[in-house]
Amino acid sequence: MHGMSDLGKVYVRTFGCQMNVYDTEKIYAFLQDRYVPAASEEEADLIILNTCSIREKAEQKVYSLLGRIKPLKETNPGILVGVGGCVAQQEGEKIMKRSPLVDLVFGTHNLDELPALLDERIHSGKKVCRVIGDSDSVPTAEAPRVPGRAGPASLLTIMKGCDNWCSYCVVPLVRGREISRPAGRILDEASDLIQRGVRELTLLGQNVNSYRDPGSGSGFVELLRKIDALPGLKRLRFVTSHPKDFSRELACAMAELPRVCEHIHLPVQAGSDTVLTAMRRGYSASRYLEKVRLLRSLIPEVEFTTDIIVGFPGETRQDFQRTLELIREVRYQNAFSFRFSPRPGTAASEMDDPVKDSEKKSWLPELQAVQNLITAEKHQDMVGRVVEILVEGFDRKRSGLLEGRTRTNYIVHFQGDPSLVGQIVTVRVTRSRSIHLEGEMPV
Ligand code: SAH
Ligand code: SF4
Ligand code: F3S
Repeated sequence: MHGMSDLGKVYVRTFGCQMNVYDTEKIYAFLQDRYVPAASEEEADLIILNTCSIREKAEQKVYSLLGRIKPLKETNPGILVGVGGCVAQQEGEKIMKRSPLVDLVFGTHNLDELPALLDERIHSGKKVCRVIGDSDSVPTAEAPRVPGRAGPASLLTIMKGCDNWCSYCVVPLVRGREISRPAGRILDEASDLIQRGVRELTLLGQNVNSYRDPGSGSGFVELLRKIDALPGLKRLRFVTSHPKDFSRELACAMAELPRVCEHIHLPVQAGSDTVLTAMRRGYSASRYLEKVRLLRSLIPEVEFTTDIIVGFPGETRQDFQRTLELIREVRYQNAFSFRFSPRPGTAASEMDDPVKDSEKKSWLPELQAVQNLITAEKHQDMVGRVVEILVEGFDRKRSGLLEGRTRTNYIVHFQGDPSLVGQIVTVRVTRSRSIHLEGEMPV
């Protein structure tokens, strides 16, 4: 056993999606017998990079951060550097070849082995790489959590992996087959989080609509109903919904269940059916729009967000124009849009692309300009309204202001007492900014 004084400090830098944010909490938990969380890389004895490989840029960020860590390790050679996450799962030992300061590489299915891997590194004096397939591991989600790290809004993984094999995507390669967690475990974790002060839960999975309780076989809507009924919970969200599996039943449940928020992230990827087929998304633009209309008819105030890929192999100007039409029709609150990035091991990375780069270059900024205008108009529409927000914490840039979110996913900054963190308050929106709103509490 270690005494308190023996504990080192660990800092985990998180890249990529909310899956990684959740895994980072699990990494802290697996290491809690030996390390306490540090506030930054500079303070840490152990630095871990929890990486993302969804696009080439995400991967490059990992190497540029390693470059910035180098001087820290030169000053203090005792610092250990570990690389985990999706780049580790895909690249394995290659990471150590490219960046010799890395002591340890571990895959997405090896988080539970971290303490043992660190021992091996320390006692053998050799670099350690452990990346396995997803069949024989303790699912990450079953790890404990470090108490006190959950804020008022918390993530909760309900399934791991993905079986959809969209032609551009590395997730099935780096996260493995789709496996749902037992509903009982999810409910226990949810109750535990609520007991620790969590007021809002976001259920996580690459495709939550295909959740199936391994015991009873019951589906996502049933799970949603059970969590919605937990005493003490104020709000419930879930991400990501694959449009092909988004059912009428789920739309009705969203309308009916009191805690489920009026916001849905529904990644469309493209507005052209030719491109959607090449992406293997399993829906057409018109089927997608039907689901949007259904949701709007059941929940008039519902807000949509989405993901879009621009410049898929073979995408023409006409195809791209379909995407512009679609975003104008849906009027998303926000769209996360990316230039297509060929990823190793995916089908799309082998596809020919007769459309010139020089032609496609302007499309992403063009789309973003259209979306920014829609976002600005929507924010402007909120001014003057009285909204209910869950206060999640403090605004990072303008100290002193509190930050919260409406049920419909608008971010609001306002002046208030720090004791309000974790509470649901009523605020009048006074001003619109590009990515958030400003408000004030009525006196
Ligand atoms: N499971 C979710 C999203 C996972 S990845 C879904 O099905 O939508 C998050 C987003 O990254 C995707 O929605 C997509 O828009 C984008 N993305 C994934 N692979 C990409 C690639 N190769 N190039 C550019 N963007 C990509
Ligand atoms: Fe990737 Fe498609 Fe799975 Fe989403 S559904 S994670 S885009 S393969
Ligand atoms: Fe990135 Fe892995 Fe998530 S590739 S987007 S961190 S599942």
